[in-house]
Amino acid sequence: MSIGIIGAGEIGSAFARALARNSIAATISNSRGPDTLRDFAVELTPHITAGTVEEAAKADLVLVAVPWSKLPKALAGLSDWAGRIVIDANNPIERPLFQPAELNGRLSTEVFADLVPGARVVKAFNHLPPHLLSGDPRAEGGSRVLFYSGDDARSKAEVGALIAKLGFAGVDLGPVSVGGKLVQFPGGPLPALNLVKFG
Ligand SMILES: NC(=O)c1ccc[n+]([C@@H]2O[C@H](COP(=O)([O-])OP(=O)(O)OC[C@H]3O[C@@H](n4cnc5c(N)ncnc54)[C@H](OP(=O)(O)O)[C@@H]3O)[C@@H](O)[C@H]2O)c1
Repeated sequence: MSIGIIGAGEIGSAFARALARNSIAATISNSRGPDTLRDFAVELTPHITAGTVEEAAKADLVLVAVPWSKLPKALAGLSDWAGRIVIDANNPIERPLFQPAELNGRLSTEVFADLVPGARVVKAFNHLPPHLLSGDPRAEGGSRVLFYSGDDARSKAEVGALIAKLGFAGVDLGPVSVGGKLVQFPGGPLPALNLVKFG
């Protein structure tokens, strides 16, 4: 399964590091183009390749990690999502003001899903700071927990399998209506909890 990453900031690069340390290949992209990611890709060679947003978006599984207000522009024109897995790692709040975005009563993942029509959206990788995603998932004699949720069982299973390959303990929170609410930041009870699963 090919993997693409849109957004190469704190979360996108932490995800890339987690993939690379497990010898999993991916194409990473940002707004400024692959040349600006060359040093990063060299650091994570041969697993991580710098590409355009369009190239990253063609993968079977695409993780999107872009500041909330920039998502519409980042995803504009990438229309052929049908059936592919898109991981929503985004939160509807951003630096420097940390003012929550207006969601009109919807969950942020529901708003996000409108930007990737036809994609099988899984919410994941949004609830921990980047250093806990890129660092060693083993902690306290157990494995660090990563939550995920989504409405499509098959894509959720794929993301669960990827989380396990990365060495984390994946916890399926159910459909977006349940899990998306639990990990919504701000507002949900689970973000910023650094949990460990034993056994
Ligand atoms: N940082 C955290 O602690 C944290 C934790 C959990 C979840 N999140 C969520 O993860 C998402 C990303 O956060 P971050 O902290 O990683 O942000 P960041 O460090 O500011 O990086 C943002 C990335 O998005 C890219 N980008 C912006 N506009 C784009 C466009 N039009 N097309 C393609 N790429 C574009 C930027 O590329 P350029 O630099 O080239 O513009 C940059 O690589 C946000 O939604 C945030 O809420 C963050």
